[in-house]
Amino acid sequence: MIFDYLDGGAGAEMCLAENRRALDSIKLVPRFLSDGILPTENSTEVFGENYSIPLGVSPVGLAGFIWPGAELTIAKLAGELGIPFILSMVGTASMEEVFGAAGARAWLQVYPTRDETILTDVIQRAKRIGYKVLVVTIDSPVSAQRQRDIRNGFRNPFVLSPRAIWEFAVRPRWLAEMARKGVPQCAVFEPYLPRNARTPFECIAFAEAQVKNAACTLEDLKRIRKLWSGILVVKGVLSENDAEIALAAGVEGLVVSNHGGRQLEAAPASVDMFLQLADRFGPHCTMMLDSGIRSGLDVVRALAIGAQLCFSGRAFYYAAGAGGYKKIRLAIQLLTEEYKRSFGQLGCPPKEAWLRKS
Ligand SMILES: Cc1cc2nc3c(=O)[nH]c(=O)nc-3n(C[C@H](O)[C@H](O)[C@H](O)COP(=O)(O)O)c2cc1C
Repeated sequence: MIFDYLDGGAGAEMCLAENRRALDSIKLVPRFLSDGILPTENSTEVFGENYSIPLGVSPVGLAGFIWPGAELTIAKLAGELGIPFILSMVGTASMEEVFGAAGARAWLQVYPTRDETILTDVIQRAKRIGYKVLVVTIDSPVSAQRQRDIRNGFRNPFVLSPRAIWEFAVRPRWLAEMARKGVPQCAVFEPYLPRNARTPFECIAFAEAQVKNAACTLEDLKRIRKLWSGILVVKGVLSENDAEIALAAGVEGLVVSNHGGRQLEAAPASVDMFLQLADRFGPHCTMMLDSGIRSGLDVVRALAIGAQLCFSGRAFYYAAGAGGYKKIRLAIQLLTEEYKRSFGQLGCPPKEAWLRKS
């Protein structure tokens, strides 16, 4: 059930498959006899911060169900190993804890909220805590229909069915951690909960109601821009129109993303849209990519088509679900090694190796 929550996509999961197809279609031609580039030379600076590899952790909501304490564990490792970590507004760790764990490597993702004062307060808190990068996700004005979650009964209010009891019972380590840490809830929203929202599930319902049916317009972005003097990024851009509006509002970065194939099933692969947007918008802002990135080779592919930074949600949270700290550390190490190996095999910068299709 929880694996399906993480792994699944919208509808018949066509967009999920598209993301992989588009990434796999990026071919790289090495140049062995050129100057040669050592894989140790490839740390990246983005928004004034140095990262060990150009790959970060996408925001994932309700991550505490994947593994209790998952976000905080990943955030600590991100801080230690030098990669960006984005906390979801509907995540299960608090803004303060995550910043304490990852420091300047921690970014915060927000959605527009139905009650504007909540978003305003979250932004002001983020500023006080010390966050430097705020990411506004625009691609989820309404919930998607995720068939696996419907089949599995993974919904709020959660009903402990015989099947759910069985699934939890056969995962004793997860269950023991859950018992130790308690049922996760949307920590960012805790200060705004109405008096009658006492249980974690009521808290989650409150947070979900706040972020759904709350569209994001140019006016909203302008309002956020006024409130936030740090780096502002818009995530979920797939069209020139949205990129133009985001830049008109004064953002510094765009994440081309289809939410990992979890929102609009008919959406194109984010790689395909990145190819259409990169040349035009790259000179004006930091262009980033997510949706489908699973390996160090994919990171090199993203750089080849012009991304300055890319992100993955599932690559890190699969590891979290496999057993917490040790598995996450191993995943980051493997991704780093793969990235450096793939980069080293090119013998030239990724952009020069990219086999463009005419
Ligand atoms: C379980 C799950 C929850 C997610 N929750 C959020 C969220 O709260 N906010 C957000 O901006 N994106 C969310 N996303 C989308 C990710 O930030 C990211 O765009 C996506 O995971 C990238 O695709 P990948 O998982 O294939 O790497 C979520 C993704 C998953 C898999």
